[in-house]
Amino acid sequence: MPDHDRAVTEPADLLATRRERFLERLGSGVAVLPAAPELLRSRDTEIRFRQDNDLYYLTGFTEPEAVAVLTPHDPEHRFTLFVRPRDPARERWAGPRFGVQGARERFAADAAYPIEELEERLPDLLAPADRILFALGMDEGMDRIVIEQVARFRTSRPRKGAGPLAVEDPGEILGHMRLVKDRLEIERMRTAARITAAGHRAAMARAAPGIGEWTLEAVLEHAFRETGGRGPAYPPIVASGANATVLHYVTNDRRIEDGDLVLIDAGAEYGMYASDITRTFPVSGRFTEPQREIYDVVLRALEASIAAVRPGAGADAPHRAAARTLCEGLVELGVIEGPVEEAVEEERYKPFYMHRTSHWLGMDVHDVGPYREGGEEVRLEPGMVLTLEPALYFAEEADTTPDRYRGIGVRIEDVALVTEEGCDLLTRDVPVDAARGRGAGGGVGRSESGIRDSG
Ligand code: GLY
Ligand code: MN
Ligand code: MN
Repeated sequence: MPDHDRAVTEPADLLATRRERFLERLGSGVAVLPAAPELLRSRDTEIRFRQDNDLYYLTGFTEPEAVAVLTPHDPEHRFTLFVRPRDPARERWAGPRFGVQGARERFAADAAYPIEELEERLPDLLAPADRILFALGMDEGMDRIVIEQVARFRTSRPRKGAGPLAVEDPGEILGHMRLVKDRLEIERMRTAARITAAGHRAAMARAAPGIGEWTLEAVLEHAFRETGGRGPAYPPIVASGANATVLHYVTNDRRIEDGDLVLIDAGAEYGMYASDITRTFPVSGRFTEPQREIYDVVLRALEASIAAVRPGAGADAPHRAAARTLCEGLVELGVIEGPVEEAVEEERYKPFYMHRTSHWLGMDVHDVGPYREGGEEVRLEPGMVLTLEPALYFAEEADTTPDRYRGIGVRIEDVALVTEEGCDLLTRDVPVDAARGRGAGGGVGRSESGIRDSG
């Protein structure tokens, strides 16, 4: 297993390549990319700082109170970094800073200044640009600074004949870049998936009637940290019994009972990259018949969605494949009326499956990047990473729920990397096969390195 990811840093040449690609796409724009804001948990206690993904993707810089300015028009100073200056007294309390010199030497900034000089220096950096690429609405302080610049250029532009006219979201360019993962990103995502699978295996091994959902959450988090992850990439869902029919159940405060299914949706973060795995298993090691019927339909839908992942397929192809298979299963089980074709057309599965099958995965768990463009589905390409997460939820109270399935919720989620041939599942270090589930045949608790090529 890797060293703890505090030690992870991005190779300088890779960051430089990403910046060059980004600069090329800026045209005559200038990008202003701030660090993530520091957020309070309560009173004077902060939430642990995590860098803004776009800033990290382009610079690798890890500290708060920083702004990168990328200026394609300036041949010598294309990358300027504003950072917190060194301050021995403050560093005693909050840890070391890279400082202005560190920004140049460690992060290859062409120019670096104390963050206090940002407002004074921005006008010169922005003057040759026709637009500012900046994400409005994330940080009020930064919004104010950028809006003041726009107002200033509105009055000076008519006489000077230059200066930015508009603010544009950089997410358009960065979303496309981040959608197709480079070699290092794929490596990170494989590691995040392995760490996540280790957590799931540990939680499955610990699960038993009488154990609290919270204990399995603790087991997951322990394994994530111990095997090199930063912690969960999103709040883990440990949902037993009917809690599994609540899509984003995160209270995790029920004691698991004999006969329950347990749905765990949890993903570790490693080196700023998320994984996202869901497994559903019977706590006692044996499914009841109705549980098994539902599980098998969802597993077939997962397999159908996996088969739909290949280069050139539409981003919605896995969802279409999963929805059709779920319909087939629900018609067979008498939950909805056929014929299947009509059931698919009319989305009769919707009361039991109300979300999509896939989302992009990367630095964000619901990662950036378009699903549709110009009225067309985005086509899958090698290097894209997406989840496949078909499910069926039979809410206890709902009128539409047949008695036989009341309170059953099953979701199975894998992560697929699109390859030249089809896809690699990054997440099969934890089994999905019901027959090999908890307690049976060594399916759990064993470390398996095989990553199956499903193409
Ligand atoms: N864990 C959130 C999701 O599966 O989308
Ligand atoms: Mn997901
Ligand atoms: Mn998930």
